[in-house]
Formats: sequence, structure tokens, C-alpha cells
Amino acid sequence: MQKFPGFVYNYTMLTLGVLASGRGSNFQSIVDNIESGFLRAKIVVLITDNPDAYALERAKKHNIESIVLKPKDFPDKNTYYAHIADELEKRGVELVILAGFMRVVGKALIDRYRNKIMNIHPALLPSFPGLHGQKQAVDYGVKISGCTVHFVDEGMDTGAIIIQAAVPVYHDDTEETLSERILKQEHKIFPYAIKLYAEGRISVDGRKVIIKGDQKDSLLINPPPAAT
Ligand code: GRF
Repeated sequence: MQKFPGFVYNYTMLTLGVLASGRGSNFQSIVDNIESGFLRAKIVVLITDNPDAYALERAKKHNIESIVLKPKDFPDKNTYYAHIADELEKRGVELVILAGFMRVVGKALIDRYRNKIMNIHPALLPSFPGLHGQKQAVDYGVKISGCTVHFVDEGMDTGAIIIQAAVPVYHDDTEETLSERILKQEHKIFPYAIKLYAEGRISVDGRKVIIKGDQKDSLLINPPPAAT
């Protein structure tokens, strides 16, 4: 691209597709951060595996197209995820966001969006992968937990780590109180990770994600202000 002196470059608008299974508060935080101008991106589709997902209401409210795709309506996992990949590609999706998508994503989608699928997990990976990361942290007795945004590979929460935020765990925490504390950070770091990606600041070298610019951007104890 030719550059002209004095011209301020805005990175081009990133096209997102979101997969969510439930409440969709992370989906909402991404929508809010787009609407506030913090994140220069557009969400072209919400895909859910759950017809009762509250995320569907949120999509409707913000005029975002939504599709319900239930695995049981497909002959096998491969066909299901190939179909999801078709729907995303058809709409020009460049980055896929798993915002509480409660399934291990199939290879058919991962192969077509290698290092282009981000997930948020409510623990400091590689600790406490899988379901109920917050409960696992409380039960184990760790003093610090948090959340992780990572790229998605074939494993369960095993992909390369993009960004993490840490929160304290108190002796009287329950799964609920810790979840609430972590969720506040999720709503900040997920839009922030997407912003880093949209700005072309993220590259992947094996297991390592390199963020161009300030190295402290990858561990957020005090995440930058995003819209809440
Ligand atoms: C979040 O805790 C997220 O970390 C996990 O699933 C939950 C989804 O919550 N992957 P929501 O649907 O975004 O409110």
C-alpha cells in the first residue's frame, strides 16, 4: 500500500462472525466496544447451537443476523463444522469469535480458520481448562486466577495464548463471586484482543503469540479502558 505523508491511516474494518451458546455477555461487550468506536470491526453473523440462547435476543436488538444450527440436524461433526465454515466464509468473516460456545470446535472449521478463531476461557490457562474453570480455581485454592483469550486448535483450551488478565481469589470466594470478578475482565480483554488483531499487531510463532508494540499488553492486571 502506498503511504502519503500526513495521511492518518485507519486499519480496515475487520469482519467478525460470533459463535455463542448462551447468555452472550461477551458477545454484548464486543458489540458495545464496536458501537463505542473502541473496536473497528463489524459482526456480520451470530451462529448458535442453542435456539434458546439469550445471545439471539442481543443480536436481534443490534440488527445482527443470527443463525441457529443444531448439531443433531447434521449427519456428523465434520459436516456440522464444514457447514458453519461455509456460512462464515459466505459472509466474508475474517476472524471467528467463540463467545461462550460450549463445544469443542471440529477440525473442519479449524482447518479453514487456522489462527483465526479466538476463544475466551475463565481461568489462567493452562490451569483449569474445560468446564467450570472458576469452580476448579476455587476448589483448588489458588490465590490468583483470571481469564485467557487464545487461538483455537484441536484440543480443549490448548491453543496459543494471546492475552490474559489476572484477578485475586479470596478465601471466601464461591464459584459465583469469582465468576463475577473474572467476567468483568473478560469483557475488557476480549474486545482488546480483537482490537490487537484488527490492528495487525498479532503474529503467531508456534505456541507463542507475539504482540507488536508493548509487551505488557499481553498480561493485563489493569486492563485498558474499554466500553463497559
Ligand atoms: C464465559 O465465562 C466464558 O469465559 C466462557 O463461557 C462464558 C460465557 O459467558 N467461555 P457469556 O455467554 O459470554 O455471558
